[in-house]
Amino acid sequence: TSPQTMQRHSRGWQRDGRRVVLVPTMGALHEGHLSLIRRARKLAGEDGVIVVSVYVNPTQFNDPKDLKKYPRTLAADKELCRAEGVDAVFAPQTLYPVGASVEIGENDLALQFEGEHRPGHFAGVMAVVAKLFHLVQPTEAVFGEKDFQQVAVIRRMIRDLDFPVRLILEPTVREVDGLAMSSRNVRLKGRLREQASVLPAAIRLAKESVGDSVGGLKRRLTRLMEAQPDVSVDYVEVVDADSLRPVRKAVRGTRLLLAARVGPVRLIDNTAL
Ligand code: PAF
Repeated sequence: TSPQTMQRHSRGWQRDGRRVVLVPTMGALHEGHLSLIRRARKLAGEDGVIVVSVYVNPTQFNDPKDLKKYPRTLAADKELCRAEGVDAVFAPQTLYPVGASVEIGENDLALQFEGEHRPGHFAGVMAVVAKLFHLVQPTEAVFGEKDFQQVAVIRRMIRDLDFPVRLILEPTVREVDGLAMSSRNVRLKGRLREQASVLPAAIRLAKESVGDSVGGLKRRLTRLMEAQPDVSVDYVEVVDADSLRPVRKAVRGTRLLLAARVGPVRLIDNTAL
């Protein structure tokens, strides 16, 4: 739990020449996280060290209700980590000193989509990921592709601020109906869970629409999703996979990004077209 102890361990592992691989999470671990941990083991090898951080980072929540309702299941998370052979779980009470006043900004990739709909979100993500990098000092950090924009922003932060960390990306793990696994899914009960299937349906429709104009595709996807009584779309966009700039044609290699509310639960997803 202690940041200083975490850093001391990491220094020791480095002195011993052991590879350290970080899997940063906010807990409520599910199969998606387990796939990140399994990738971390492959990277670390038998002698390397896997650190899973579990910290519900308050600075990346723009909605206090979302922060309050975010599932917290540390005991179960630790059990899962033990079963997966994780070497250390870093679960600090807090990572911010009273009066913390330093921010990290990113003025290109972070401005739209999640950045626009969740003011302050990416500043919070970058602050906590930078702290985790300093405390754990990993050689690699494994992130899930579900948060596609987050990964782009962190990759830029690593590049621009010279973090000696290699970012590793793992594909999204999906439920049987295609819904992307997310810690927030536990809040989707009964009819809301059924309605959430429309997100993977939209992803499938988009994949069948390669070559279409983005304007028409966005309208079709929005209509499809909002035909469900409790679903409202925050955004649907097709972007260049590197720059995240919107494109006009949904050609192969571009990326569909979407965010929608299903009742009180906000979900995001994306796919390569
Ligand atoms: O993707 C997440 O779970 C979080 O944004 C992260 C990277 C652990 C930072 O809090």
